[in-house]
Amino acid sequence: MAMPYRRLSFHLPPGLEDALVAELWLAGTQGVQSLPGDDGRLRVEAYFPAGEGDLGIALPPAVELAADAVLPDADWFAAWRERARPFAVGRTLFVDPREPEEAQEEVPAGRALLRLPARAAFGTGSHESTALALELLEDAGVAGRRVLDVGTGTGVLAFAALLGGARSVVGFDVDAASPFHARDNSALNDLHPWLFAGHLGALRERPLFDLALVNVVPEQILPEMPQLVRLLRPGGEALLSGILAERGRQVLDRMRGLGFVERDRRMAGDWIAFRLGRA
Ligand SMILES: C[S@@+](CC[C@H](N)C(=O)[O-])C[C@H]1O[C@@H](n2cnc3c(N)ncnc32)[C@H](O)[C@@H]1O
Repeated sequence: MAMPYRRLSFHLPPGLEDALVAELWLAGTQGVQSLPGDDGRLRVEAYFPAGEGDLGIALPPAVELAADAVLPDADWFAAWRERARPFAVGRTLFVDPREPEEAQEEVPAGRALLRLPARAAFGTGSHESTALALELLEDAGVAGRRVLDVGTGTGVLAFAALLGGARSVVGFDVDAASPFHARDNSALNDLHPWLFAGHLGALRERPLFDLALVNVVPEQILPEMPQLVRLLRPGGEALLSGILAERGRQVLDRMRGLGFVERDRRMAGDWIAFRLGRA
């Protein structure tokens, strides 16, 4: 959908990319792209809805804000989509981020197709944090389980859970637009999780779920973890992703304090993800 965007451009040493991207998520970015700069530094562009004032971004040292511009109405994802190609994730998925009317790609044997056109919500599967969550989900096994997808974005993890045979899936997001995107994707893929916009607090505090999928940066979700625990049945599991590796220990300590034990972990780039069991 066309709408005006505010685009912030940053110049930074490549090693700071993940730290900056995590900050941009916290500030509510709707999309980030990284490009090589002319001077050996990286250029990161982040898109926000126009009209929001101070975004409260804490810039890591050595990151320079190079431009802050409002771009007129246009489909800013179109150029990206033109270059986008389908890709395999985990052992069982094949994600196509293009619009449905574009050419169909042959799906490799043994993989299920997920159509997730790159529009606005986060989660085409191309980011390490999504890929790590999908890999952990495959290994955890989801058949027959009742699943909660916290911060559903495009719905990618919810759909993967349904493809894996989950008994039921509820997905929600604090970004009010996300469930609309996820609903479009739901129709496109004929996979139907329950979806809503809001917070964990909207769910009745009963142990309704066997497995929680949480690809949300710790700053945004750790304060709500005690609530999440009350929604998980004893012995239930949580898959936590969206964690910079350097923060992994801190997140684990916090989760241990809530009665979880580590069962598995995955790393990619600067990111880490955990599969935790509720003792
Ligand atoms: C990194 S994206 C993950 C999207 C998708 N689940 C995936 O794995 O690719 C994190 C999502 O969590 C949402 N979010 C952030 N804080 C949240 C919270 N406290 N409760 C629910 N959703 C939250 C964001 O709006 C964003 O859509």
